[in-house]
Amino acid sequence: MNARILDTTLRDGEQTPGVSLTPDEKLRMALKLDELGVDVIEAGSAITSIGEREGIKKITSEGLSTEICSFARAVKVDVDAALECDVDSVHLVIPTSDLHIKYKLKKTRETVKDLAIESTQYAVDHGLLVELSAEDSTRSDIDYLTQVFKEGIDAGAKRICACDTVGMLTPEKAYEFYGHLSKLDAPLSVHCHNDFGLAVANSLSGLRAGASQAHVTVNGIGERAGNASLEELVVSLYSLYGVKTNIKIGMLYEISKMASRLTNVPLQPNKAIVGENAFAHESGIHADGVIKKAETYEPITPELVGHKRRFVMGKHIGSGLLKKRLEEMGLRVDDEKLNQIFTRVKALGDKGKCVTDVDLQAIAEDVLGIV
Ligand code: KIV
Ligand code: ZN
Repeated sequence: MNARILDTTLRDGEQTPGVSLTPDEKLRMALKLDELGVDVIEAGSAITSIGEREGIKKITSEGLSTEICSFARAVKVDVDAALECDVDSVHLVIPTSDLHIKYKLKKTRETVKDLAIESTQYAVDHGLLVELSAEDSTRSDIDYLTQVFKEGIDAGAKRICACDTVGMLTPEKAYEFYGHLSKLDAPLSVHCHNDFGLAVANSLSGLRAGASQAHVTVNGIGERAGNASLEELVVSLYSLYGVKTNIKIGMLYEISKMASRLTNVPLQPNKAIVGENAFAHESGIHADGVIKKAETYEPITPELVGHKRRFVMGKHIGSGLLKKRLEEMGLRVDDEKLNQIFTRVKALGDKGKCVTDVDLQAIAEDVLGIV
């Protein structure tokens, strides 16, 4: 099995509160995503603003082989804006839950279905590939949702997408839900939000159940708690399920850093796969194990994702790591001196300090009587 990746960092990811990219920044990110190997780049929502259209146009004018997509509501003006930007496809979205239909749109199920069909036909007639997408699909009546997708496919939609807009799925429900929709006559996308921290787990379940494409963002950024994270999903697929994607996994750390820089959204240190602590070791037992055989405490190598292993010195340090660090600094010590340095490092750690190389050098020189 292979899985396709639609990256929506430049659309759903840019909806992260406080994030706004300039057209040039969007272009830089899109070029990196293209190099990374994503199958589709959702470059933005063309109707949003003049600057947004400028950014999407800059991307489409590069002539990339990656499919470039614009988000569009199921209305003609949105499709026209996407056409103006010369995209390959539209991610054409209608809400399908009664909650959204009644309170947000103040319409009926029938009217919303008609809008979905009419706008799909309109986009197809104008040469666009349509991925018909249902917002809040996981809180929708399943028969109504299925009917919308069936009629959408008859109207020319080439892919369908079911959004777990507020992250209410569990892996078990995702398996059943996406399993049902994957029986329809079009490839299915999963689009999962992370409100309960389950976006990646739910996406994996959806893919296992028969969906063929996942919507993701770099670093999992997006509205509220964000979207399924590209790096976590892709590496889990590769390492835990043996499922291939077209992603160059060795570029994941690099693109994560770039996205964080451009969006000004810092990464938590313990972020899986790309966080600064993802391959850092402090405790004596762990560091000792890793020095002897990295697999003892690393499920994948840092090199796989373009990251680096790091040893951190603090109160949990073991004598093995300390000796290795001193040797790397060109300092050979006997057991007695090692023990003295070890005690001083631990004492510093007990004061709540992380011991830097400069601290260690100073301690070692003092113990060894080097002036
Ligand atoms: O999460 C969602 O429902 C979305 C749609 C608006 C496509 O991002
Ligand atoms: Zn979303």
